[in-house]
Amino acid sequence: MGGYSFQPENVQICVIMVGLPARGKSLIAQKIVRYLTWLSIRAKCFNVGNYRRLETAHPTAEFFDVNNPEGERLRKMAAESAIRDMFRWFDLEQGVVGILDATNTTKSRRNWILELCRKRNVEPMFVESWCDDEDLIMQNIMDVKTTSPDYIGQDPERAALDFRNRIRNYEKVYETISERDLTYVKLINVGSQVIINRIQSYLESRIVYYLMNLHIKPRCIWLSRHGESAFNLTGKIGGDSDLSARGREYARQLPQLVKMSVGDRPLTVWTSTLKRTQQTAKYLPYRQLTWKALDELDAGQCDGLTYEEIENRYPDDFAARDENKYEYRYPGGESYRDVVVRLEPIIMELERQENIMIVTHQAVLRCIYAYFMNVSQDQSPWMEVPLHTLIKLEPKAYGTEVIRIKADIPAVSTYREKGQSAKIKK
Ligand code: ATP
Ligand code: F6P
Repeated sequence: MGGYSFQPENVQICVIMVGLPARGKSLIAQKIVRYLTWLSIRAKCFNVGNYRRLETAHPTAEFFDVNNPEGERLRKMAAESAIRDMFRWFDLEQGVVGILDATNTTKSRRNWILELCRKRNVEPMFVESWCDDEDLIMQNIMDVKTTSPDYIGQDPERAALDFRNRIRNYEKVYETISERDLTYVKLINVGSQVIINRIQSYLESRIVYYLMNLHIKPRCIWLSRHGESAFNLTGKIGGDSDLSARGREYARQLPQLVKMSVGDRPLTVWTSTLKRTQQTAKYLPYRQLTWKALDELDAGQCDGLTYEEIENRYPDDFAARDENKYEYRYPGGESYRDVVVRLEPIIMELERQENIMIVTHQAVLRCIYAYFMNVSQDQSPWMEVPLHTLIKLEPKAYGTEVIRIKADIPAVSTYREKGQSAKIKK
């Protein structure tokens, strides 16, 4: 696992999800984990449903009736197991943000968790998703619940009906959070209103800010590196060179490639401040924005050199970079970690926006891709991201779908394998 050095305060936080079924709690919990992990903050989700399924794999709605003592017993047992594993993780793996993903819809259940957290010196923070949009709830049920492991092999109509009854059973006892002394954030109808109470630490406020920027409208994100550049042809890194002839050809073909994938959807294009991304986006008939934060990883004193030259002139640096590519910072330049830190506002803005296309650079694209695809810090700096390829990302309820669309225009490969410095492959 890559380094986990970033921790602004010495706190451990238990995020306790609250809400009726099909309110997006699991989705929100998983997004928080992905976001924090990307920022090197150790985070993990403990889903009580997974523990419950170990004993009761295919329950009907009656199982969730509060007047069903056996159901109550098994549900409490599942919650206990999840909490036990979470505290173990806090202790043994120096966890920072553990998320307890369950409905936690009653005050008594929340008080019980609160007590356990206080005994362990773990800060409790409640995240409630409240939603009364019937159409959205029905859509959630059809989208994700009828295909849940609880209903495997069952008719979707019957599964949806049973799930509605499950929700009714929860509604009988649901108490929304109103306790003034608790730390909580309440998202009402997917953030159309957000209530926050007693947010104390920096990390909590970061989580709140992130949650406030989320939306669930269908949308896609397209990523592309700039077309092949003059520096790419000679194997030099960094710089601000123009596109090569083939790079210019990619720029000319890009509008058609994009149109085929985007269709009539409105789109905004983001580029870096460097010439090669702007020349690549030049013919795209959409609104364009330039971001300094999308500039390539700064290679400092190695800017303008080839990998071979770097190995010859600075062999220790070259080896150190291979040893830990994510953490290695070029003298006078940046590391992948530095790039992730400066990309954070980009990710936040991407969460807020709908269809966006980003034309950027190899290292920056790897970092953005790693956020969406949950790629570890060990792997992300080594990912192959070929030139002249459009990547379409489509966020779905449980993960992001990826499609790669290759333009039929040859380009050099700028990929360097670990331990290798040979000139770029043709
Ligand atoms: P359960 O209690 O059964 O585990 P859940 O609350 O965890 O349900 P999810 O499984 O996360 O619900 O439901 C995912 C669905 O909820 C997705 O279709 C997603 O688009 C939608 N969703 C995401 N965020 C919200 C929100 N804030 N309010 C309502 N629905 C949401
Ligand atoms: O070679 C193209 C390039 O964008 C360089 O400008 C940059 O230094 C490099 O890729 C980043 O990739 P890596 O981190 O694998 O060296």
